[in-house]
Amino acid sequence: MNHAQLIIKEYYDVSDGQLVIGKLPITEIVRRHETPFYLYSPEVFRMKIRKVTRALPGFEIYYSVKANPAPDVIQIIMDEGCGLNVATRGELILACKCNCPPGKIILAGAGKTEKELDAGIVTGVCEIHVESIEEIEKLSILAKKHDEKVQVAIRLNPGQVCREGKIVMAEKAAAYGFDEADLGKAAQKIICSENLELCGIHVYFGTQILNKELLLGCYEYAFEMAKQLVSMSGCKLRTIDFSGGFGVPYYSNEKEFAIDEFGQQLGPIIKQVQKHEGLSQARLVIEPGRYLLSEGGLYVTRVIGQKSSYGRQFIIVDGGMHHHLAASGNLGHVIKRNFPIVVANRLVGDKTHKYDITGRQCSALDTLAREVELPTVETGDILVFFQSGAYARSASPLGFRSHPVPPELIAENGTVRLMESQIINDSFQDAPLGSNSKLGEQRNVN
Ligand SMILES: Cc1ncc(COP(=O)(O)O)c(C=O)c1O
Repeated sequence: MNHAQLIIKEYYDVSDGQLVIGKLPITEIVRRHETPFYLYSPEVFRMKIRKVTRALPGFEIYYSVKANPAPDVIQIIMDEGCGLNVATRGELILACKCNCPPGKIILAGAGKTEKELDAGIVTGVCEIHVESIEEIEKLSILAKKHDEKVQVAIRLNPGQVCREGKIVMAEKAAAYGFDEADLGKAAQKIICSENLELCGIHVYFGTQILNKELLLGCYEYAFEMAKQLVSMSGCKLRTIDFSGGFGVPYYSNEKEFAIDEFGQQLGPIIKQVQKHEGLSQARLVIEPGRYLLSEGGLYVTRVIGQKSSYGRQFIIVDGGMHHHLAASGNLGHVIKRNFPIVVANRLVGDKTHKYDITGRQCSALDTLAREVELPTVETGDILVFFQSGAYARSASPLGFRSHPVPPELIAENGTVRLMESQIINDSFQDAPLGSNSKLGEQRNVN
């Protein structure tokens, strides 16, 4: 079974040789809505969220909004009891618009502006995670101005990270987080501010991590750093945040992240940590994005033409890299490999061919698959790219060449509907915070 077939078996249905999403065959969906579009299955999102909550019962999930900021998607995740991890003022406003209680929002992101920090305080988010001494200073002044006591966790730039399947023990210079050597200095700076309270530590190890042993090592390291922070600061911590990072298999050589075993192996380590006086009350936070959403999202395109060139067969679709930078291999991929792809209106054919799939950008970068094996493709066929629920639309240059921006659709229980998409523009950025915010009704954030 190839990778696309495995995904279909686990998460979708097939009827009359067609892919079925939310009880609707793909031809019915494209009859109602013109391609290209992103198509989401709330049912699959929920399956993945529940998989995490079952595997890691001791953890609180703060969904990383950057993975997919569509309000309907955020709502589905909140309905499963998750909080939100926001990195910008725009994401914070979205969280408020979705009526996320401020106590379930963590603001953590590199290079936060004064306006962003101010918005975090005014909203009353449960924690703000700081990245530099300068940021602590700015936050302290703003907290004093608002006469608030702000809960602050220190984001650590770890001395070990997961990269390309290995733990890299190296001091990795970065614009985000504090170096290990500066942890004590950051803690003192927070403690010395009347309006700030040191509440935790946040460690980010990387993204798309598929090896559970590596990630276990990273979590042990984070616990060790948390202990060190307690002894340096004398503070009891209320949060240890491990960020996101659980990977999903995109390519045929990749295997599922073994989350159940990960949770089982973590159990005894957590028990040990909870014996530590300064950490016994600490909640364990994760901020996954990719793992929760990838399988529940499809990028749906139509074949608008075919040609052969110097012996290679090309399929041209009505989408492209501007909708799905990751599938084109241009989102930080060293080796370009194919996402799982199917001819969704005709899953099985009599023989297979090797095709290159391109968009309409007139650039070699705009290749969505190279030599992918598919049954005979005809113009008008529907090609579906799986694993497109996270970092597909949100991480793509949608404005490139002024092609229309594809809509986002939700298919469930035999219905398919257009979603409200999140569009960042000036007026959005200046929107007031929702009335659920602690102070939002009294002061608009400008
Ligand atoms: C601080 C932080 N938390 C969470 C995430 C989400 O990571 P992932 O989607 O790999 O789970 C990221 C992604 O870059 C991040 O930077």
